[in-house]
Amino acid sequence: MSGIRHFLEIDDLTPDEVLRVLDLSLAAPRSDLLAGSGAVFLFEKPSARTRTSVEMATSQLGGHPVALLSDEVGIDRRESAEDLARLCSGMGRLLGARVYAHSVLERLAGASTVPVVNLLSDDAHPIQTLADLLTMRREFGSLSGRRVVFVGDANNVARSLAIGCSLVGATFVWSGPAEYGFSDADRDRIAAAGATVEVEADPRRAVAGADVVYTDTWYSMGQEQEQAARTAVFAPWRVDAELLGLASERVVFLHCLPAHRGDEATDEVLDGPSSRIWSQAHDRLHTARGLFTFLLDPDARGEGS
Ligand code: CP
Ligand code: NVA
Repeated sequence: MSGIRHFLEIDDLTPDEVLRVLDLSLAAPRSDLLAGSGAVFLFEKPSARTRTSVEMATSQLGGHPVALLSDEVGIDRRESAEDLARLCSGMGRLLGARVYAHSVLERLAGASTVPVVNLLSDDAHPIQTLADLLTMRREFGSLSGRRVVFVGDANNVARSLAIGCSLVGATFVWSGPAEYGFSDADRDRIAAAGATVEVEADPRRAVAGADVVYTDTWYSMGQEQEQAARTAVFAPWRVDAELLGLASERVVFLHCLPAHRGDEATDEVLDGPSSRIWSQAHDRLHTARGLFTFLLDPDARGEGS
């Protein structure tokens, strides 16, 4: 495949390409790849892991990162998404964006002449999924056949992880309150990717035999006003030591972070022996670098000129 490769959802990569990006993530950086150039990152929402990882990845590839934050970027307020894409295409070799509406990413991609990378939208968080898969691969060696149980809100992180699991041959199980399951649009998108989701409402049954128990906040960015209502509904799906103890002996606990400690997971779990949350967070850097290398370097994709 040639031309610009955008990365808006995890299945913008084929299964082989996902594994290739994971390999590139562990390889020594091509420190000349972005020499004399860099990347532009637009953030409509706050970020710690994503911003630091993409900025550091850009630097490790020899480039300069420029991050524009919500009010200064003003997507569709100060300037249209399309005009920002045209601007940024001439300023760097890659454009990343964290947005509310996923359609904004699609519009950026439509007008950009450089790869557009989803740094999280209301619908999807695929750059997170790459790190999740790398952390799992470090742990288990291979991903195929693993049972990944996501306990909590069927949100952006869950959607991308569901599709990502399917790409690598892992089983994805979701357990949460019925009213916070995947939307029809998400179910359609997951099905369009050829992925399936096993649903088990009872968290105790869901985690039985799990290789990975994964959770995320019960109220995502933009949903803060729903915090009280959601916290009451989600309480039975809190990951505590007792619930985690019902999974397999080798279970690994993951969380994309930031965590609301005591809500979706207890300190005992977040800081316990099964937790890999810090290696997962640090894998954000390695997978950002691996992804950028893949998107920017035809040789890394096996498409040498
Ligand atoms: N997991 C994640 O994307 O973290 P940030 O919101 O801090 O970037
Ligand atoms: N679901 C969370 C993920 C944060 C990294 C959110 O969208 O806020």
